[in-house]
Amino acid sequence: MPLVCLTDFRAQAQERLSKSTWDYIEGGADEGLTRDDNITAFKKNLFVVTHRIRLRPRYLRDVSEVDTRTTIQGAEISAPICIAPSGFHCVAWPDGEMSTARAAQAAGICYITSTYASCSLEDIVSTAPSGLRWFQLYVQPDRQLNKQLIQRVESLGFKALVITVDVPTVGNRRHDIRNQLDLKMNLMLKDLRAPEEKNSIPYLQVSSISKSLCWNDLSWFQGITRLPIILKGILTKEDAELAVKHNVQGIIVSNHGGRQLDEVPATIDALTEVVAAVQGKIEVYLDGGVRTGNDVLKALALGAKCVFLGRPVLWGLACKGEHGVEEVLNILKKEFHTSMTLTGCRSIAEISRDLIQFSRL
Ligand code: FNR
Ligand code: LAC
Repeated sequence: MPLVCLTDFRAQAQERLSKSTWDYIEGGADEGLTRDDNITAFKKNLFVVTHRIRLRPRYLRDVSEVDTRTTIQGAEISAPICIAPSGFHCVAWPDGEMSTARAAQAAGICYITSTYASCSLEDIVSTAPSGLRWFQLYVQPDRQLNKQLIQRVESLGFKALVITVDVPTVGNRRHDIRNQLDLKMNLMLKDLRAPEEKNSIPYLQVSSISKSLCWNDLSWFQGITRLPIILKGILTKEDAELAVKHNVQGIIVSNHGGRQLDEVPATIDALTEVVAAVQGKIEVYLDGGVRTGNDVLKALALGAKCVFLGRPVLWGLACKGEHGVEEVLNILKKEFHTSMTLTGCRSIAEISRDLIQFSRL
């Protein structure tokens, strides 16, 4: 049976992965309410919520040519659908991040490489040299390590620095505790370990992220890099205003796929207040629960410049490696093209708030 939508890839990935790897990828924090809400909030399931988001199509507009291209931080992408950072791609497919990078390059979109990549940054770049890449930084307590990493990614041609702000500690993931997940058995955190201790980085390295990071530290990062800085994990207008005040170049509205603090809003619900707060001064992006072309269209109509995919990329990898990721991206791009065509949008610039109807049940 052909895989025709992202949910098909999810089902097949589950068959292929071990239970503990599947739980790690799929799981949310605590009761998983936000993880599930990210997805239903795009649709607003009749039985569990009180309102829903629906589309207002416009017809008779000559949609014989529909152009999905756009830009992020000035760089062109083939569609506003890119790859969110996620760690440890080698658990899903042996070639890990190298496969992801090749698929992203082929699709002409941006791939945000995680600090916890399981391939070296050099290998990721050399396997897909012309791909657009940003680097996601988990700020480390050791400033020198941050500086070295940033200088390295800058010289490797990464085009932006994405600082994840929603992990001062790792969320409470019950399934990983139950499974006694030990990533060090599976993974090699090549970019964080010193050469002489190649096999000795424990899972807990994942949680050794700087807890003391605060707004005033951003100027230090701005002082050591010319890359644009994007904050990932902002959910409120207050933090969005502070982000603008601290001269960052972008925000990813994200709740980490519901893997950090449970019971925060779905990202599509948080988007509007963040977009209003930044008043067009910086670009706003979204990740979390994007599974269909209509989801992409809704996020853009509500003010996102682009969306990022987390789990669906890992499903694609688990199913068919590089080609699976390519298929996932192509399916979503095609669905989005259809969504634009059926709502009368010929270009990204024509996608506006008027496309959205919020209805109360
Ligand atoms: C993540 N995410 C993540 N974010 C980040 O900033 N750095 C990281 O290393 C990771 N690692 C990671 C691993 C796995 C297995 C998942 C599923 C997620 C969060 C990711 O960037 C993104 O915010 C969410 O995955 C988006 O939600 P969806 O698309 O998975 O619903
Ligand atoms: C996660 C970490 C790696 O969500 O960000 O699993």
